[in-house]
Amino acid sequence: MDPVLVLVFTLSCLFLLSLWRQSSERGKLPPGPTPLPIIGNILQIDVKDICQSFTNLSRVYGPVYTLYLGRKPTVVLHGYEAVKEALVDHGEEFSGRGRLPVFDKATNGMGIGFSNGIVWKNTRRFSLVTLRNLGMGKRSIEDRVQEEARCLVEELRKTNGSPCDPTFILGYAPCNVICSIIFQDRFDYKDRDFLNLLEKLDEISKILSSPWLQVCNTFPALLDYCPGSHNQFFRNYACIKNFLLKKIKEHKESLDVTIPRDFIDYFLIKEAQEDGNHSLKNNFEHLAITVADLFIGGTESMSITLRYALLLLLKYPHVTGEVDTGVEPLCSCKMLIRCWIDICT
Ligand SMILES: *[C@@H]1O[C@H](CO)[C@@H](O)[C@H](O)[C@H]1NC(C)=O
Ligand SMILES: *[C@@H]1O[C@H](CO)[C@@H](O)[C@H](O)[C@H]1NC(C)=O
Repeated sequence: MDPVLVLVFTLSCLFLLSLWRQSSERGKLPPGPTPLPIIGNILQIDVKDICQSFTNLSRVYGPVYTLYLGRKPTVVLHGYEAVKEALVDHGEEFSGRGRLPVFDKATNGMGIGFSNGIVWKNTRRFSLVTLRNLGMGKRSIEDRVQEEARCLVEELRKTNGSPCDPTFILGYAPCNVICSIIFQDRFDYKDRDFLNLLEKLDEISKILSSPWLQVCNTFPALLDYCPGSHNQFFRNYACIKNFLLKKIKEHKESLDVTIPRDFIDYFLIKEAQEDGNHSLKNNFEHLAITVADLFIGGTESMSITLRYALLLLLKYPHVTGEVDTGVEPLCSCKMLIRCWIDICT
């Protein structure tokens, strides 16, 4: 037989097979636009205005519908009612996290941000109790935040009102509050380890929000076989993890079980108490990844919030003026720090 004919025949069979598999799977999912093989519904979405595309689709298919992002079926919840019903009223059933191959590879199912099931539940419970013990939502954490806020204002004052990019400065403070909860100590803003940590965190969040990583999450085989920024992400992640593992070792050596100093101590004590029980996935690696999650989750989101607050205050100076007219150049900072304390506590 003509080889071209064989090829065409095989390809058509594969095409029909994938259509058939998709349609049998679609039977169980909420309605949605018909996907094409491999690329899914990408042509039905305007990537420049994703929000409006989703709104338009919800007019046709209702508040809950299925979209294929590549080959992956994704159920979209559109609007407050649908989101609330799922995440609040049925919070337990919806507490799982979808698989993100980039994080699966980096964390190996450990930690708190990207774990699932019993590991996630136990780690979450432990972290909440421990953070409360360490003063979350109480006066004692506000003191740490205040102390850090003073250092931040000091650092801003050093710029003498000259133009500067506050990105890093506004990252120092939230990162240090997390440091003080996790390792007890805050770092000096010139400390090399600290600057290195911040730089790695910053790079990680830049890579994570790049389109390439979305492509990798859709086609995970790329992670193993392709060069690209994901390799830098894994290197940075490993670097942060190693830094934390070093800290954990130091803590283990100086641990006094009667006086837990910080998050790491609480974990080590719990680990010792539960020897062999494994209600937490008991190892340093798990602790390091949990702590890394707290850093990645806490530093970037907080510093971006602060950056926006600063931007808004610059944009609407009359609001800044109303807040505090006493100390001119620093009044915006004061309000900023007030916002920040409100968020933290
Ligand atoms: C949404 O629908 C409106 C009206 O039907 C249309 O004009 C608009 O281009 C659509 N927007 C997107 C992003 O699909
Ligand atoms: C192990 O866990 C069980 C149930 O959670 C508990 O009753 C028991 O005391 C634990 N054992 C140790 C050695 O902590």
